[in-house]
Amino acid sequence: MAAAGSAVGLGNIWRFPYVTGENGGAAFVLVYLACVFLIGVPLLYVELALGRASGRNPVGAFQKTKPGTPFVFTGVLCLMACFFVLTYYGVIAGWTISYAASHVSPKLFSAIKDLGPAAYFEGYTSTPYAVLPAFAIFIVLTIWIVSAGIEKGIEKWSKILMPLLFILMLIIIFKSLSLKGAGAGLKYYLSPDFSKINGQVVLMALGQAFFSLSVGWGLMITYGSYMPKSQNIATNGLWVASADTLVAILAGFMVFPAVFAFNMDPGAGAGLTFVTLPKVFGLMPGGWVFGAIFFCLLSVAAVTSSISMLEVPVSYFVDNKPKSRRTSAIIVGIVAFLIGIPSALSAGGSDFFTNMEIFGKKGFLDIMDQVFGTLCLIVISLALSLYVGWVWKTDDAVEEMSTGCDWFSKPFKLLFGMSPATIWVFFIRYICPAVIALVLCNTLGSAMGALAIVFWYTGILLFLAGWVYFLVRTYKQEQIDWFILIAIPITAPLAILAYGTREFETVKAPLFLALSGFFLMALKVVVL
Ligand code: PHE
Repeated sequence: MAAAGSAVGLGNIWRFPYVTGENGGAAFVLVYLACVFLIGVPLLYVELALGRASGRNPVGAFQKTKPGTPFVFTGVLCLMACFFVLTYYGVIAGWTISYAASHVSPKLFSAIKDLGPAAYFEGYTSTPYAVLPAFAIFIVLTIWIVSAGIEKGIEKWSKILMPLLFILMLIIIFKSLSLKGAGAGLKYYLSPDFSKINGQVVLMALGQAFFSLSVGWGLMITYGSYMPKSQNIATNGLWVASADTLVAILAGFMVFPAVFAFNMDPGAGAGLTFVTLPKVFGLMPGGWVFGAIFFCLLSVAAVTSSISMLEVPVSYFVDNKPKSRRTSAIIVGIVAFLIGIPSALSAGGSDFFTNMEIFGKKGFLDIMDQVFGTLCLIVISLALSLYVGWVWKTDDAVEEMSTGCDWFSKPFKLLFGMSPATIWVFFIRYICPAVIALVLCNTLGSAMGALAIVFWYTGILLFLAGWVYFLVRTYKQEQIDWFILIAIPITAPLAILAYGTREFETVKAPLFLALSGFFLMALKVVVL
């Protein structure tokens, strides 16, 4: 429950719709789904297994499983990512608290209507004395829960409140879909325009998947370390990922029909959810009640996430110095608040923080999000998959996964006689690092054109080699290694994505190569 609470949060309801809007709609959603289930879930397993096997925080997990490994730096990055993301996550969560309050107050609620949600949002977020107290309240709440213990309070309430959030989302979706002009939004959200997929889109989808699943932060290492051996990591992990994805997809159904019905720009950025939904509430009879409850529940969803972020650095201090839970929670929380102030002021509160520009992102909050909420996660995930795939023995990892789970190491007909464990190992050894590295190269790649070309040629060569291997073996009527066949449809398209969109029809070329690889696989099933 705690892991699901960590995963479901602002990432699903606030971040997913606006990132989808900025990256082209339906095509992004497809890439996102692939990222969640092909890369996110294997890595979720990596973290949970590493955590439960070692029983430590992210730094300790590396030290315990392989003393002296240089990979400890990954653990340190985890602590940093959680901490720094908390600094701006709390700001957005503060907005949700304020929005809950403003729906309850008739005066503010009519102000939202009169000014229009967009102007209200701008006015609100650029007013420091409105934003900062809400941010502070949220951080205090987080500190309080983390220092008081997670099981009794938050878990019990999450079990009641999260289903409620779900039901409320369904009601809002219903309203949103019934708006005039909602159809265009559905089309935008559901019919993919493949020409919109490029390296940047894949990076954002991967980053969003990690952000939303709470994977790549070492957080699941920490939570895994609290899990008893009788727990079934594999089933629970799948459950968490599915619930998280479902909530994100539903959030899109709340937001996009409304965006188009109101003639707004889906690429409007971080304010998207905060502007569209109040508009929907304004049109509903008794909308203020729905609005108030919705933003309250969203705040709860945010708290179950933020406590997990604070928990990671705190668990590090507690592991190293027992009994300091309360003090560490307070100190880390306060420092996070202080470092979060520039983020809180970056939506108009301070000109300097609003207009600063680094990495193509404008505003302190967006820069933090790009550095810690996207890039840092991707580096951690790469390191994690390399560590578990190549350094820590995969046998140990598989054994940990199979403890408490009866299906993980069993061969399945549906998987062509392989066990989920075999596939998982293959993914964390080859596919995850390859995909993540290529996506990283592509981002850094515009700067390093030369490297991208190297990747491109390697990918194409691997692809051709796969075909030759296949043909030769078939000719000799020899057994064909499944791994190669799986690798074929993946290597070349990735190579092209790595190379970027420059000289190729972005989608057609990778799609064509992938299809030809899948054709091989089908051939093997049918003929051999
Ligand atoms: N997954 C959370 C969300 O979707 C965010 C989060 C990231 C929480 C990392 C904890 C750690 O909102």
